[in-house]
Amino acid sequence: MAVTEPSLLKVEALRRQFPIFKRSFNGKELAYLDNAATTQKPGIVIQELTRFYSESNANIHRGAYALSEEATAAYEGARQHVAGLIHARSVQEVVFVRNATEAINLVAYAWGRRNIHPGDRIVLTELEHHSNLVPWQLLAQEREALLEFVPIDGQGRLDLAVLDRLLQQEPKLVAVGHVSNALGTINPVTEIVRKAHAAGARVLVDGAQSVPHQPVDVTEIDADFLAFSGHKMCGPTGIGVLYGKQDVLEAMPPFLGGGDMIRQVQLHESTWNDLPWKFEAGTPHIAGAVGLGAAVKFLQGIGMQAIFVHEQQLLATLLDRLQSLPYVSLYGPSDPAEQAGIVSFTLGHIHAHDVATVLDRHAVAVRSGHHCCQPLMERLHVPATVRASLYLYSTEHEVERLVQGIQDAARIFRLDRAVRGDARG
Ligand SMILES: Cc1ncc(COP(=O)(O)O)c(C=O)c1O
Repeated sequence: MAVTEPSLLKVEALRRQFPIFKRSFNGKELAYLDNAATTQKPGIVIQELTRFYSESNANIHRGAYALSEEATAAYEGARQHVAGLIHARSVQEVVFVRNATEAINLVAYAWGRRNIHPGDRIVLTELEHHSNLVPWQLLAQEREALLEFVPIDGQGRLDLAVLDRLLQQEPKLVAVGHVSNALGTINPVTEIVRKAHAAGARVLVDGAQSVPHQPVDVTEIDADFLAFSGHKMCGPTGIGVLYGKQDVLEAMPPFLGGGDMIRQVQLHESTWNDLPWKFEAGTPHIAGAVGLGAAVKFLQGIGMQAIFVHEQQLLATLLDRLQSLPYVSLYGPSDPAEQAGIVSFTLGHIHAHDVATVLDRHAVAVRSGHHCCQPLMERLHVPATVRASLYLYSTEHEVERLVQGIQDAARIFRLDRAVRGDARG
């Protein structure tokens, strides 16, 4: 997606809606640049959680009394908001789970155990978060299946020629992240899905880093599954979403057994509820779903395209500023059009944790480590990187404070005279 429009966001007014930004650390305003890990919550989401528990709390789907019907309506209303956000054809395609990790595990267990047989192939990529890797390792071990990996080039972009070759072996599944949480690479998922479908594979897209930040239309991408987490999009923790195409979900056995997911239970066997409840065993995170619904309304009120444009513009500034520092090595695409608002870098030989500690003294919150992508770090030959990740409330001032913090770290560790090392090929 090329960015030509000016930022449409009134960021200062938006920031005032997030109570956490009233806090200070070491007497400094918080510069929160760890949005790929989790995002902050606007007052409207916090209030909705309080309102639900104060006024509408009851268990859902079972009570014949007004309060339970109200709670059910709030929970199912949230599902409608989520379905609208991703353009699902029906609310039956939207399953509430705990997070993206659980969504992917649901597919690995319920779809995978039925459809993956000994010798079958599953195609992943070198960019995947552990959540889109370990469930497939477990499945492959159990079913004696093979995992194949699409490699990345020197700029953290997928080598699609290798994907083409892997597809010739007719894998059963391709599981790919839409946006890399470690490098920010935006993968061409629509193209990947089209090719995978032509080869007869199902496709799961890990949307944990895309759905919160850009317009995502499941009818356009056409993936069979899309997984994402509420807490990365202004919603509460403990609530996430699995989107699945209706016919694919219908054909799958349940994941977890228990209350609410059944139609009829006998001592020795049971039949299953309709979609999406077949996959929602037990009392769900009702308030969490309601809070996520409020978050979705909040994001839609701003506009997903406006959020994307804002982040892309800040990204351009951030990359520009980091490229001007000779001791900063950047990882990820050199073309900002291929990158979301996530930037990974290292500072000379200084460990990422040390850099993050100096930044913390400036009240600049970034992530340092392997970002749940250990195989990717090995591929990049680094133990860890520093990662700054943006969101709708990020500002140029925060970017500037990050840069000042990095300059301070360079002074402390005497990197000022070192030669610039750009890690990108
Ligand atoms: C790309 C990606 N996939 C999956 C996850 C897992 O999300 P969660 O921990 O909310 O399940 C993350 C979290 O950082 C992520 O960035």
